[in-house]
Amino acid sequence: MSVATDQAAARKPLTLATIAAKYGRQEPLVMVTAYDYPGARVCELAGVDLVLVGDSGAQMELGYPSTTVVPLQEMLSMTAAVHRGLKTPLLVGDLPFGSYEQSDAQAVATAVRFVKEAGADAVKLERGNELSAARARAIVQAGVPVVGHVGLTPQTATALGGLRTQGRTSDRAAEIAAEALALQRAGCFMIVFEAIPAAVTELLMPLMEIPVIGIGAGPATDGQVLVFHDLLGIREGTNARFVKTYAQLLGPMRDGVAAYAEDVRARRFPTAEHCYSVADSELAELRTRLADLSIK
Ligand code: KIV
Repeated sequence: MSVATDQAAARKPLTLATIAAKYGRQEPLVMVTAYDYPGARVCELAGVDLVLVGDSGAQMELGYPSTTVVPLQEMLSMTAAVHRGLKTPLLVGDLPFGSYEQSDAQAVATAVRFVKEAGADAVKLERGNELSAARARAIVQAGVPVVGHVGLTPQTATALGGLRTQGRTSDRAAEIAAEALALQRAGCFMIVFEAIPAAVTELLMPLMEIPVIGIGAGPATDGQVLVFHDLLGIREGTNARFVKTYAQLLGPMRDGVAAYAEDVRARRFPTAEHCYSVADSELAELRTRLADLSIK
């Protein structure tokens, strides 16, 4: 067993209680997104605290143009695949746009599907306006832990004027504060702050009594989340300002596939080491049988 596998085997699964204990000790919380089984295994072996099957998977994994179009069933399938790859991190499934807004009953039914069909430990929903706070409360009351999400909420980016920093005016910052507090009162155990100026986050943090996970919200939060493909450099195009890329894997992945393609085209692959053997006697017997077949 490798060191990483060894360490992963020794770790205990994270629970809401262990997350709360880390928060109490002011230990930074590490969250990463993942959308499939190999991604989940990487997160498991790296020892992160929480894995979010974000609806960013719509773009990163499934190639949709935005998060809003991803069907619920595809979010459930990605979450189930991630669940199969995880043993210890807490698994959070992202409720996609359209799967929780209509009514508390719709929100609870969707959240329960994430738990029962996909193995999620908790769900996340966006915004802290009256509607989202009510849905969060209903889901919590139904027994499913909820993560809130304020600031830049990509599901409603059109209404926010695009994928842009939020809280740069005192009006908008105060609105974000009110939304965060509403989600906290609704019973969320954690909240994501996305794309908020660091100085605004600093002012909001003393209001919060639950862990705040930041993405583009500065260093004052209780933890950070990054998108898997961003942090590992597995995607094309430019990154948001808040992304730190810890590896550049797209190039090596492309080179690997290109080298394989070259080998196949040049008949350099497979070689003897990639082939199965068979006893000479069985081959001789087969030759005889094939000869018989061609005579008939
Ligand atoms: O979908 C997602 O990846 C997210 C994170 C950015 C928090 O919501």
